[in-house]
Amino acid sequence: MSKRETLIVAIWKEKLTYKQSVAAVKRIAQGIQKKQWPFLIGIAPNPFAYVGVANELRDTGMRLVAQNILWEAESGSFIGEVTSSMLGEVGCDYVIVGHSERRRYFHEDDNIIARKAEAAIAAGAKPILCIGDSKEEKEAGKTADVLRRQLTETFDRLGSVLNGEQLLIAYEPVWAISTWRSNRPLPEGAEIAELHAHIRAIITELVGSSLANSIPLIYGGSVSGDNAADYFSYEETEGALVGGASKTPESFLATLAAAKRGMERRASKGNASIHD
Ligand code: PGA
Repeated sequence: MSKRETLIVAIWKEKLTYKQSVAAVKRIAQGIQKKQWPFLIGIAPNPFAYVGVANELRDTGMRLVAQNILWEAESGSFIGEVTSSMLGEVGCDYVIVGHSERRRYFHEDDNIIARKAEAAIAAGAKPILCIGDSKEEKEAGKTADVLRRQLTETFDRLGSVLNGEQLLIAYEPVWAISTWRSNRPLPEGAEIAELHAHIRAIITELVGSSLANSIPLIYGGSVSGDNAADYFSYEETEGALVGGASKTPESFLATLAAAKRGMERRASKGNASIHD
């Protein structure tokens, strides 16, 4: 199996202003320095803060992650949008596409999402494709069908564009997003690992094992310092999108530290997997 990158991203959505974003990056940079991290760390600020955050990220080793992109690779007349050339100019490394909030509130379908993924690749960035089931779909036992549909429609369009190591997939169950301070049950690390194995099997069917094995599978949904050690103790989980728990530098740093402990636990067990 090829060695895939592991990536943990702070997603600030619209929660932090420009000044708050720049200040937060400075504090995270101080918090991570002089430590060895077994994963890459990404920051996904609000678009208004891309330039300021990109400047702060320089020489920190952290990556800039865009929250969105216009689906056209070439800029045209799309008021208010951020294009691939703008993201290329600012030095963006990854672009999140298909997030459930974009699907729900901005009516983005799998076709638009696939085009956005293509635009990200044109910008020289890697798309992080989010897929996930709703609470109703989970309760109706439709999780596997939903994931297969989302993956099929995206890979039908993207399959011929991809040539390996250009895409990450984030499993983000809609029912687990932004529940980190509530008592709602969250998935256990083993459950996520199981779903990741299933997702990889679907991708293998769709595009073959060589491309499928180049794609890191990451998880998002209320990841925090409380659960990251469990989630990262399974080799099937190769990263995280961290929303609520990244809103303060301290809680994001606690999440990174827990993820590191999980990966160390995994290594000490000889790469724990659901198959162990
Ligand atoms: P959360 O957000 O960590 O607050 O659940 C994750 C996301 O929206 O991707």
